Amino acid sequence: MPKPTRRSPLRPSSARSSARLVVLVSGSGTNLQALLDATADPSYGASVVAVGADRDGIEGLARAERAGISTFVHRVRDFGTREDWDVAVTDSCRSFEPDLVVSAGFMKLAGAAFLESYGGRYVNTHPALLPSFPGMHGAADALEHGVKLAGATLFVVDAGVDTGPIVAQSAVPVEDDDTVETLHERIKVAERQMLVDAVGRMAREGFTIDGRRVRFGP
Ligand code: GAR
Repeated sequence: MPKPTRRSPLRPSSARSSARLVVLVSGSGTNLQALLDATADPSYGASVVAVGADRDGIEGLARAERAGISTFVHRVRDFGTREDWDVAVTDSCRSFEPDLVVSAGFMKLAGAAFLESYGGRYVNTHPALLPSFPGMHGAADALEHGVKLAGATLFVVDAGVDTGPIVAQSAVPVEDDDTVETLHERIKVAERQMLVDAVGRMAREGFTIDGRRVRFGP
């Protein structure tokens, strides 16, 4: 039976001038930077209120600090259980009252506590055209498979691995002489634009999730 329509929890822009984003990162943070650049324009409709990470010393955190944005770090190894780590991430996010949480290169799966709080408003960007090539190595797996079109997918996170309803996708060609690095870099150029476009629309227009289908608008 199809799931009922879920209305976006994002408030209409008339009620709140700017949607509050918490962005989670694990690495270089170029997707985060694209969001930071976009949110500099008030008409974008969203602002990054905090950046969270699962490790120290990454460029993603440095980007946030340079932009004057609050950060938090929770390393899995500092917690007794994965569930405790998940609760800590959830609590830190909650303290910033986000309307939407964006995983932008965050290389950890959300647990039950996180999804309990942010299910339906937690999105992840992945460097492959899902449902093909889920997991940690989307671009490498696509290249290895010999596909001629690769790309990126923004989806609403559910309890599976890269299985949630798709918000947006962007495709790029695979060139004959591509390496994982050149292909992933081409994907990331398209991915950043897709992420900025889709998150901006989610913030400004709202969105609904109807079974597997995500639509922008009230
Ligand atoms: C992005 O390509 C993102 O899709 C990928 O990590 C990269 C982060 O780049 N995420 C995953 O592979 C998650 N499965 P960035 O740190 O420069 O934004």
